[in-house]
Amino acid sequence: VQGVKFSGVGAVTPRQCLTNAHLSVLVDTSDEWIQSRTGIQERHVAAPDQCLVDLASEAAGAALQMAGLEPTAVDLIILATSTPDDLFGTACLVQTRIGAVNAVAFDLTAACSGFLFALVTAAQYLRTGAYRSALVIGGDILSRWVDWGDRRTCILFGDGAGAMVLQASNVDQLLSFELRSDGRLNEHLTLAFTGTPHTLGDNLAIAQGGFAPIAMNGREVYRFAVTQVPEVIEKALHRAGCTVEDIDWLVLHQANQRILDAVAERLGIPQEKVISNVGQCGNTSAASIPLALSEPIQQGHIQPGDLIATAGFGAGLTWGAALFRW
Ligand code: ACO
Repeated sequence: VQGVKFSGVGAVTPRQCLTNAHLSVLVDTSDEWIQSRTGIQERHVAAPDQCLVDLASEAAGAALQMAGLEPTAVDLIILATSTPDDLFGTACLVQTRIGAVNAVAFDLTAACSGFLFALVTAAQYLRTGAYRSALVIGGDILSRWVDWGDRRTCILFGDGAGAMVLQASNVDQLLSFELRSDGRLNEHLTLAFTGTPHTLGDNLAIAQGGFAPIAMNGREVYRFAVTQVPEVIEKALHRAGCTVEDIDWLVLHQANQRILDAVAERLGIPQEKVISNVGQCGNTSAASIPLALSEPIQQGHIQPGDLIATAGFGAGLTWGAALFRW
């Protein structure tokens, strides 16, 4: 068994910026309400001609450049998304766009936990020696599936993509992980298929349709996040033989500033160790963790060797934590 190192990160948001002032025209809300409840000031939304493959490929290109890895040297691409351009999968479109002709590519769906689940999945391929290098991408265009008349949800989400390059290594920088799922809580956050019956013949019928917009029980999701996320981070710390004091940076799924604050407080992690870009990006689902990591790494705030505790949580419900050294 060999280890995994993290050698590149990149992220992108669409150019179009949707502010709280814009939203106050669309629905009965205000900048004050949104900022005080969520910390979000603005988010970015994809233009009609902008696709997931565009965002994901740009983020992937930036991560490969940082890693100094040629696209042809990538063995594995996992694209975490709930909003593919094509329900059959979008990872192969990214593979072709970036010229990773030797890679095997597939999509993975675990909502806002998707990036974390994909990262852990890719790490297992590297640890077994099956592959030498992996590109893990998280990207979502939730603006396609938001009910823009529902003020309880439309204020929260933004679009984006982020990517990380993982490579096989003698030293293992992924110290531990914990992943969880609980389908009993599924109804609290859904983007569900909705169909109408079509008869194909005598006693023969199928359903056809599309997807209902995002529906969320905000209070239940909030309660779930602030109780389960600290617990799973503590489990990951314990598994790695580390303590909360060892953590240099807390990089949570960027759902909402109040959740970030509550989780940090429960763990006893000071504000200056908490990475947040939720004010500028909103909740970008599978993109949010690499999107939050990208800038502080590129600007040198996060230094090689720093210990990062990360956690994802979202629909499924799914959640999990990973502890790794940059
Ligand atoms: N503007 C103004 N008023 C609003 C808005 C809005 N945008 N949204 C809701 N309200 C109103 C409600 O109608 C309600 O009014 P009422 O009391 O007259 O019925 C009142 O504000 C309180 O509503 P709550 O839903 O109880 O508000 P809460 O304080 O719980 O905040 C929020 C809502 C921000 C969504 C909170 O529940 C939360 O942060 N939940 C977690 C959501 C989340 O992060 N989801 C995604 C995580 S998983 C993933 O990433 C997919």
